[in-house]
Amino acid sequence: MAFPGTGKIWMNGTLVDWMDARIHVASHVVHYGSGVFEGARCYDTSNGPACFRLDAHMRRLLDSAKIYRMDVPYDQATLTQAVIDLIKVNRFRACYIRPLVYRGYSQLGVNPDGCPVDVAIMLWEWGAYFTKDAIEVGLNVKVSTWARIAPNTMPGMAKSVANYANSQLIKMEAVADGYDEGIALDTQGNLSEGSGQNIFIVRDRVIHTPPVGSSILSGITRDSVVTIARDLGFEVREQVLPREMLYLADEVFFVGTAVEVTPIKSVDKIQIGSGRRGPVTEQIQQRFFDIVRGDAPDAHGWLQYLDPAGPATLRAVTRR
Ligand SMILES: Cc1ncc(COP(=O)(O)O)c(C=O)c1O
Repeated sequence: MAFPGTGKIWMNGTLVDWMDARIHVASHVVHYGSGVFEGARCYDTSNGPACFRLDAHMRRLLDSAKIYRMDVPYDQATLTQAVIDLIKVNRFRACYIRPLVYRGYSQLGVNPDGCPVDVAIMLWEWGAYFTKDAIEVGLNVKVSTWARIAPNTMPGMAKSVANYANSQLIKMEAVADGYDEGIALDTQGNLSEGSGQNIFIVRDRVIHTPPVGSSILSGITRDSVVTIARDLGFEVREQVLPREMLYLADEVFFVGTAVEVTPIKSVDKIQIGSGRRGPVTEQIQQRFFDIVRGDAPDAHGWLQYLDPAGPATLRAVTRR
């Protein structure tokens, strides 16, 4: 996905042209991975553009910063409004939202004290993460030789840029070996998550997913899918899962802001269920897409409309 290189980026409260949104190479984050970030989406719903669970994403951003002792100079309401305003300025109806909090330019050393805590928000158009075929049929994945970060090494609940060194190793190995994606185990050998997605397993129509103690990011889509599944009447168990549960599953699927709900058709070249998207996955996927597109009732208040006054006033806002 190449950036068009146009539009505005929010940097410390100022709107900057895309190509001018630069930081110094001596910034602390460049050398020591001292940044935390978010990935959220704005959907072009049938009632106008709306961000999906933006409040939860902004809360997690500030939670991640707190874990890393970063004093963010903006509160949640200010950052949320900055996202909404930026989407309007950039005239997007649908986009991916990437807020980033990072230690900036002042001095270098492992101890970040003295470096400013800077904030940037960027947006871009990002459609399906995998192909349409993947959404309807499924992915071929492998269990990675890389384990997920251990709980006493780096905090998995913080969405830190540093965690994505581990994610890159998982993803690159999977792709180099001819798979679409990798699944990491935790350091105990139990199921954890994908390089950038949480995982669900269905067996006998009971839905299982690893708990936050299994070195996962506490995903907002994961939380939404647990809620959707329970609304649909499924039993959902958050529990420690051994690797072989993958092979014995009727259905396996990934969830995340980028991948949304994507089925898995094989793990380590072992066919899962019928070798294509299963009925439980399809039902949950359908409900998820119906909600984010505004085609099903937003029973949990997950959509934050850009223009709460309604779609009529949005006619002037068109994608460039
Ligand atoms: C490692 C990891 N796990 C899980 C997820 C899914 O989280 P969410 O649904 O909040 O996007 C992501 C995506 O951000 C991720 O990077």
